[in-house]
Amino acid sequence: MKPYVYITRKLPEEIIKPLQQKYEVNMWEHEDIPVPKDILLLEAKKADALLTVLSDSIDERILTAGKNLKVVANLAVGFDNIDLKAASRGGIAVCNTPDVLTDTTADLTFGLLMATARRIVEAAEFVKEGKWESWSPLLLAGQDIHHKTIGIVGMGNIGETVAKRATGFDMNILYHNRSRKPEVEQRLGLAYASFDELVKKSDFIVCLTPLTAETKNMFTREVFKKMKKSAIFINASRGPVVDEQALYEALVAGEIVGAGLDVFEKEPINAGHPLLKLTNVVALPHIGSSSIETRVAMMQLCIDNIEAIIAGKEPKTLVNKDWMPLVKA
Ligand code: GLV
Repeated sequence: MKPYVYITRKLPEEIIKPLQQKYEVNMWEHEDIPVPKDILLLEAKKADALLTVLSDSIDERILTAGKNLKVVANLAVGFDNIDLKAASRGGIAVCNTPDVLTDTTADLTFGLLMATARRIVEAAEFVKEGKWESWSPLLLAGQDIHHKTIGIVGMGNIGETVAKRATGFDMNILYHNRSRKPEVEQRLGLAYASFDELVKKSDFIVCLTPLTAETKNMFTREVFKKMKKSAIFINASRGPVVDEQALYEALVAGEIVGAGLDVFEKEPINAGHPLLKLTNVVALPHIGSSSIETRVAMMQLCIDNIEAIIAGKEPKTLVNKDWMPLVKA
């Protein structure tokens, strides 16, 4: 019997063709509707491999149901949607898609910073809505980016690549991370700062940290209060790192100038959410890595990982390093 691969979102036919030649492949038929949990559970029971997306909760129930399951390949660098311990206990390899999305995500993060600082979205809407009647000295005047201080929270590959972008804008660059990165500090001219110091000194606070028990709700009202009144907060990591109510209150109280958000506590964010009513918020639908080239590369990396695990080889990008394969059907 051919190994069975279940894909939780509709992917382009040409991407999955090579898989179909070797395995039995089934795919949830919608591109923009998540697979219901009961269907995912039934599929996990049969599958040798799951190709998942970040909005699928791959919890203990799904993983223990997967009696034949050998690999979960997640189409994201983040893996907070997967219970890693349960996966390792079940001999299931968890793979993600780092590296291939680093530049693309850094581009979007810096673009979001620029859009928020220079009010680009607001200005574009202003023109399209026919509100532009004359040139005026302070029309949609925003904040400068060049020569300002950027504080990057989370100095992984994406953080480092955003820092590289910031050097081109002659920015002063601070970072905070669990561990210091002396080589990166030297190469890019970064200065390490405590979280408190970074928050107080930065003009742009850019959050790129993964979601873990330690980073959950890291940005509280107290933290926003410490920021400069002219500060702009950017989040391109995971929504739950921020207390959204606190962010809303800080924006309304004028404690910071604006926010650029690619991620939210609950995704998709409800269109009636108070944050979306604020003109100084630029909101995007979690598109950090969304260029055609990069998304295709991410899909291919998931497929490579699935093929490797099924063939008994080392996967390219294993997350649960304590994984040991179990003998399964
Ligand atoms: C996107 O947020 C990712 O983790 O790749």
